[in-house]
Amino acid sequence: MGQQQVRFTLNGEDTEVGVADAGRPLLEVLRTTLGLTGTKSGCATGYCGACTVLVDGEAVPACLLMIGLVAGRDVRTVEGLATGQRLDAVQQAYLERAGFQCGFCTPGHLMATRALLDKAAAPTDEQIASTVDGNFCRCTGYVKILDSVRHAAELNAGGTVGHA
Ligand code: FES
Ligand code: FES
Repeated sequence: MGQQQVRFTLNGEDTEVGVADAGRPLLEVLRTTLGLTGTKSGCATGYCGACTVLVDGEAVPACLLMIGLVAGRDVRTVEGLATGQRLDAVQQAYLERAGFQCGFCTPGHLMATRALLDKAAAPTDEQIASTVDGNFCRCTGYVKILDSVRHAAELNAGGTVGHA
């Protein structure tokens, strides 16, 4: 079977990958073909949220999305959050509120939080809880993650981002 070219936008850059199997998960292509290992592989069954990326602004599990379905779409991973050395408000908030311990779940939480704030600048506690609920964390007990999301909304609203 020949290679198939899939073109899409990845973190703002036009990207083309050759794949033998269009059914290969986006997660695998990101981590192995493209070397973007920030997106984590947890359950690989769409359950844990570790692999969350944004596709056309929606938070989706990259482990379930076939690379062939990404053609022509806009994909954003955790590597695309910061602008140069300048952290995104979401990253800054998790840092300031210690919303992580081992960090394995963190990229997924960051992307889910980014998607939430892009839709709801001042999210309700319910919206925050439902966003966090989709991403498993074995370490933090969630209190600091919830606090981080609330703080991210504040920083985001104030246009305040981190280290220049
Ligand atoms: Fe994709 Fe768990 S690795 S949801
Ligand atoms: Fe370790 Fe969440 S910080 S799994």
